[in-house]
This record gives sequence, C-alpha cells and structure tokens, in this order.
Amino acid sequence: MMTQPRTLVFATQNPHKAREIAQILGPEYRILTLSDIGCIEEIEESAASLEGNALLKARYVKERYGHDCFSEDTGLEVEALGGAPGVHTARYAGESKDPEANMALLLSNLAGVNHRRARFRTVIACLIGEREVLIEGVCWGHIASEKRGTGGFGYDPVFIPDGYEQTFAELGEAVKNQISHRALATEKFRRWLQHL
Ligand code: IMP
Repeated sequence: MMTQPRTLVFATQNPHKAREIAQILGPEYRILTLSDIGCIEEIEESAASLEGNALLKARYVKERYGHDCFSEDTGLEVEALGGAPGVHTARYAGESKDPEANMALLLSNLAGVNHRRARFRTVIACLIGEREVLIEGVCWGHIASEKRGTGGFGYDPVFIPDGYEQTFAELGEAVKNQISHRALATEKFRRWLQHL
C-alpha cells in the first residue's frame, strides 16, 4: 500500500534550494517553502552563529505555523581570519550581498597570506514533532589566490576543495553535489529522517 508523503516545511524563500533538497529526500517527503505556507515576512537572522540562525528560522515557522520544519544556514570559515566570514558570509562586503564584492574583500584580506585553509559549513536545524536536532555538513579546502571558473554561485570561484586542484566553479555541479557541505548535511538529514 502506498503511504502518503510526509510534509515538511523548508524555512527558505529559495525555490532552487527546496527543489535540490526535495530531490535528495525523494518522494516520501513533500517539501513546502515559506511562500507555500503563506509566510512572506523576512525571518530575522540575528544570531551569532550558523546554529543560532538555523534554529531561529526553524523555530519561527514551528511556533507560528505549527508545521514540522527544517532550515539551513551556511558559512565559509577561513582559519587565517579566525573563522571569518562565518555567520557573516552572505553580507561580508555589505548589505547588498554581492558575491563579487564578497570575494574581492576575501582575497584582499588574504593578500600575502600563505595559510589559506578554509571550510564551508552547513547547519540544518530540524524541528520534527517534539524533536529538535542540529545536523552539520563540512567541506574542507583552501582559498585560491584568484577567482577561477564560471559555474556555481557565491564563493565557488575562490574555493578549492581538498583532493582537487580546481575551484568549485571549475569543477561544476556534478562533482560539487557529491562532496559539498550542503550535500553532506542533506544526506545526513535524509538518514536521520529515515530513523524517526
Ligand atoms: P546561505 O546560508 O545559503 O544563504 O549562504 C550564505 C552565504 O554563503 C552566501 O553568501 C552564499 O553565497 C554562500 N554560500 C553558501 N553555499 C555556498 C556554496 O556552495 N558555494 C559558494 N558559496 C556558498
């Protein structure tokens, strides 16, 4: 007998992210976005950590709308910069969230620095029934000396994952989706859901 898909709200306004995660989770789950549940207000992301922001978004939806839900927050953490931009990754060079300006600032802050070790970290906050858990996905690598490649988004042209010589932007989606922080976190999330 076919069982009904389980509905989960993904606390994002980004339909691309929702599609990507729905594909990984498969047909057992129906993924709704914030606009699908009529939540059009901007949810504040004022916490001092990725974990805090992910929880803020998921709790907001659970408290106001009552749905089982999850949210995701990602940051780039550079060792030589004490973990920056971290929670400020999207707005590193200002409120316009401009990836070109963000990468330019990052490269200039690392000018002359040899130690360029960095990681992308994704945190997924899950509020399902009475359960509240945080799931993490990490992709280690280093910051390139200059931008390379045209694929991907955000900081992809300056991030070289461990085991490769090309940037995420040069490697393309197929490789990136095997090894990225978000792919790893989402796969862990899928396995966690299956054991509920
Ligand atoms: P968000 O949490 O997905 O909104 O991402 C926060 C910031 O990290 C944004 O500036 C994104 O461009 C950047 N970012 C997140 N994931 C990636 C990635 O896979 N590649 C490059 N940049 C990313």
